[in-house]
Amino acid sequence: MRMRILLYTFCLFALLSCDSSTPETENSEFPSLKEAAPFPIGVAIKSSHTSSSQRGELIGYVFDSITAEYEMKMDATYPSSNSFNWNGSDAIVNFANNKNSQVHGHALVWYQSMPSWVNSFTGTDAEFEAKVQDYIETAMQRYSGKTVSWDVINEAFEDGGTGNLRQYAFRERMGDDYIAKLFQMARAADPTALLFYNDYGMTYDSVKRQAMLDMVADFQSRGIPIDGIGLQMHLTTNTNNQQISDLITQVAATGLKVHLSEIDIRINEDGSLNSPTGARLEQQNQKLVSMVNVFRSIPLDQQFAITFWGLSDPDSWLINFWGNPEWGLLFDQNFRPKPVYCGFYAALGGTETCTAG
Ligand code: G3I
Repeated sequence: MRMRILLYTFCLFALLSCDSSTPETENSEFPSLKEAAPFPIGVAIKSSHTSSSQRGELIGYVFDSITAEYEMKMDATYPSSNSFNWNGSDAIVNFANNKNSQVHGHALVWYQSMPSWVNSFTGTDAEFEAKVQDYIETAMQRYSGKTVSWDVINEAFEDGGTGNLRQYAFRERMGDDYIAKLFQMARAADPTALLFYNDYGMTYDSVKRQAMLDMVADFQSRGIPIDGIGLQMHLTTNTNNQQISDLITQVAATGLKVHLSEIDIRINEDGSLNSPTGARLEQQNQKLVSMVNVFRSIPLDQQFAITFWGLSDPDSWLINFWGNPEWGLLFDQNFRPKPVYCGFYAALGGTETCTAG
């Protein structure tokens, strides 16, 4: 109860304050992650979250990087071949800028977020490629100076240890070298933006990992512009720590920036829980701390950001996707920090008192 009152008091103070940015307060029982971290701390949000003052004050206090959970993807911004829809993305970018947070654009191309017109496009391959270039220019130039980075492409490699590129319209229309073309288009569209490749599952799928690293090495040898690699890190309490460490270390060896881009840590992988247990919450905490310690061991200029894929546990995609109750994020259903929050804070180098809710 005290935490909630404190947080409401904190929010009331924020609302009354003359400063439009989120004020720091000495009274919070949980310190700010962004104040402790030597790199941005991010959270994925939906535009519907931007109208909540409680969410807004909490996000502004804790984080300094924002990723759109789905509203900066092509199916959201380019729903028909002759019209764009920037409503959700504008709301999120404006919210982030009002909170003095950077914006990480996610994602220009993803096989799961293609608008339906892409597959039914009747023009030539050259016309398709020109339309893709126009889309990338339009999206990136709209937010140039407001987004610091973009996932140019998300999840281009197959699962299942094949190491193959996925087969879908962009590859079919633009050829096997389509990813390089997308990065070149993105660099030309907004030279100020850092360009990332983003993917998942490369802790346990070493073939996918190697295929991605081979692509990066090829890009670097050919002068194809790429600045960073996003490791989604949708983990469980059972994810192997050595595999996490090997992945981060090998990716850092490319010399590119590393973004832990979509973190959540499942504590109910076996589906046995109807509510979180202290033991599983502590395992979640230890899993994150172990990963953050590895991340902080890579060169500082490669530590791009650590981003959580949602604010509070009920927000998480995990619940619908896996069909189980799940508590994978930093805040509980009442926006109280969980043990993993305080463990994360300490792993970032924070020294203030942190009391989980
Ligand atoms: O909120 C709207 C609702 O108003 C509307 O009526 C309804 C029907 O159109 O859509 C609702 O939005 C949905 C949104 O999730 C709600 O959060 C979108 O349709 C749905 O596409 C969206 O799914 C997102 C998914 O990517 C596909 O874009 C998830 O939120 C998001 O967590 C998930 O994130 C992906 C990363 O981008 C890539 N890595 C994997 C990760 C999980 O799949």
